[in-house]
Amino acid sequence: MVSGTRIAQELGTSRSEVWRAVQQLRELGVQIKGHPATGYQLNAMPDLLLPEILNPLLHGVTLGSRIHHYFSIGSTNAEAMNAGAIGEPEGTAFLAEEQTAGRGRAGHSWESQPSLGIYCSVLLRPPLSPAVALPITLMAGLSVFEAVQQVTGLRPDLRWPNDVLLGEKKFCGILTEMNSEATRVRYVVAGIGINVNHPSFAGELAPIATSLRIESGREWSRVELTAALLKSLDNAYRKFIAEPAEARAQIFRDFEQRSSYARGRQVRIEEEPGFEGITEGLDERGFLRVHTASGVRTVLSGMVRAVDGK
Ligand code: BTN
Repeated sequence: MVSGTRIAQELGTSRSEVWRAVQQLRELGVQIKGHPATGYQLNAMPDLLLPEILNPLLHGVTLGSRIHHYFSIGSTNAEAMNAGAIGEPEGTAFLAEEQTAGRGRAGHSWESQPSLGIYCSVLLRPPLSPAVALPITLMAGLSVFEAVQQVTGLRPDLRWPNDVLLGEKKFCGILTEMNSEATRVRYVVAGIGINVNHPSFAGELAPIATSLRIESGREWSRVELTAALLKSLDNAYRKFIAEPAEARAQIFRDFEQRSSYARGRQVRIEEEPGFEGITEGLDERGFLRVHTASGVRTVLSGMVRAVDGK
């Protein structure tokens, strides 16, 4: 037990402020024993994505060497895009316990309940053309794949361009946003949402969404997963900057290898107008090719859905 007086002295605050902070931490799920008369004891290291907890796990990793953490925020992507506009350095990670206006692809929202998922946006400044956005999205998916496999032993699937699945259900979505000139990127934000410890999903999400906990029957450390994700992304991004052409080709190969959707899969493409066909791998820019009755078509932005019912 540490007395409230001592904590207050060390933090340069009052005992009543310490009590208020303890109450707030408890509401966030941090297990603290005691009360003002007895002092306090931290029972377990909280699974909060705080820089103080993540930094020691990220030695030598550039992405995430600067972390902005929020207990609650509208959207980490919106925050990272704003920070990009005012000169925030490359590699800063924006992590939230909860998002109240989480952004998904194509104007959808992203459900972001407190401390159950990972809501992470990383600011990048690749000295390249806007054509990097798609490879960066695919690279982020591969990094999630690697981190999840390494930490949990589960084997995810990838659905072009940016969904990470377990079985046929999605547990991770990626939203890459960019600010660029016609030929030069100013900054890119890779936004990654991972359902980690959600016990269930209700309503329209129930048939399509899952979490690592639902698939494995146990909870996982968001801290450990986030550290593994940032390491994996850092590694891939360094290669991408050093040798863009080779790295891009490697990303496309890795994606095709790890995605059951990339080749030989009967899919429906939900764009205007929608169409069906069998996937034929990625083209040299990373777009998905689909063999249809009227020839091979390239999917530029539509949603891909399996039609084989599996
Ligand atoms: C999708 O529609 O599949 C993409 C979802 C992306 C969600 C993540 S959560 C962290 C980051 N901040 C946001 O507002 N969105 C992304």
